Amino acid sequence: MKLLVTGGCGFIGTNFIRLMLDKHPDWSIVNLDKLTYAGNRLNLADLERGEPRYSFVQGDIGDRALVMDMLTDATVDAIVNFAAESHVDRSIDDPSPFLTTNVLGTQNLLECARQRRVSRFVHISTDEVYGTLGASGKFSETTPLAPNSPYSASKAGADLLARAYFETYAFPVVTTRCSNNYGPYQFPEKLIPLMYLAAKDNRPLPVYGDGLNVRDWIYVDDHCHGVELALLKGREGQVYNFGGDAEETNLAVVKTMLSLLGKPESLITFVGDRPGHDRRYAMDYSLAALELGFAPSLDFATGLRRTIDWYETNSRWLEQVQSGEYRRFMDSWYGARS
Ligand code: NAD
Ligand code: DAU
Repeated sequence: MKLLVTGGCGFIGTNFIRLMLDKHPDWSIVNLDKLTYAGNRLNLADLERGEPRYSFVQGDIGDRALVMDMLTDATVDAIVNFAAESHVDRSIDDPSPFLTTNVLGTQNLLECARQRRVSRFVHISTDEVYGTLGASGKFSETTPLAPNSPYSASKAGADLLARAYFETYAFPVVTTRCSNNYGPYQFPEKLIPLMYLAAKDNRPLPVYGDGLNVRDWIYVDDHCHGVELALLKGREGQVYNFGGDAEETNLAVVKTMLSLLGKPESLITFVGDRPGHDRRYAMDYSLAALELGFAPSLDFATGLRRTIDWYETNSRWLEQVQSGEYRRFMDSWYGARS
């Protein structure tokens, strides 16, 4: 299979490309990535140097001419669309790039793929399109969309376009919605790597609100496996939920990390809440279990230890991302919220 993966230099895309090339000797992958602050070409530099089944193109999913050109030779069997602006806090500060990439960029990709008759398109979405839960219940694929942040609204817009392309043009798109991922290569603006770095430096760990918001954590490899299943077995036009069966409050996650790192809980600092902060996410993934055979395999305690080990042994990667955008982000973050 020849795959076009978009956003492959980001967190989940990097893990997905590595896993798929490892697992499928007959697959080749072209990675189209714009290299925003979140995209790191060095994540896959070893593949660029030594893996003939991998190639990289720097570019925007919203660039009609480029994408049409990449699909011209009709050798792309399927597209997996990870490319997105992905961080909720940034979308609150400035929604525009989220609409440009997540809505218009996805529509461009769908349209080019439709015109070039690509036979499979997996669109990667998120549990955040469903909004928020109370103390009980789970999101299913039939839960009405009720996004609460500009990020999740833009992802919901993309999901609806994917749906429309199936209904209107019978375009073979499958949409996946997953809960919070964690693992190697996650940019340290997200909760777990951000808290890891703050704890290592003995800086305050900024917990939003009362810290009791709940996320359902899934190790990134388990999400990638779900995407692989959706690619190979998903029904056209269908949405599939993926979850990790690991509901944790943010405060519990941070306390566990401090304990694993041997740091005091006194580093925890409660700061102002995120506007529109969703209280709780939980995923009913029974449809994916039934139709695809999906199940998360790694428990949260093991996955968290594995993730911290990865950050401990990949200090070069952390130094690199900290030296530029991360440092600017942290400076402005602390400046705005102190
Ligand atoms: P990320 O921010 O780490 O990576 C996004 C990648 O997309 C980067 O490499 C970036 O350079 C690239 N990109 C951004 N705009 C682009 C454009 N216009 N054209 C081409 N490339 C572009 O994100 P992530 O955490 O790896 O998330 C990947 C996808 O999975 C996103 O669609 C996100 O909504 C979805 N998702 C993420 C999670 C999570 O917990 N991280 C959970 C569920 C779904
Ligand atoms: O649920 C899937 C989503 O998970 C993905 O669609 C998004 O792309 C991804 O960024 C993630 O969104 P969240 O907003 O849940 O992740 P984040 O790591 O930003 O925050 C996780 C929780 O931790 C959330 O309740 C906010 C809280 N938080 C976050 C940061 C960065 C803090 O308390 N302090 C922080 O400094």
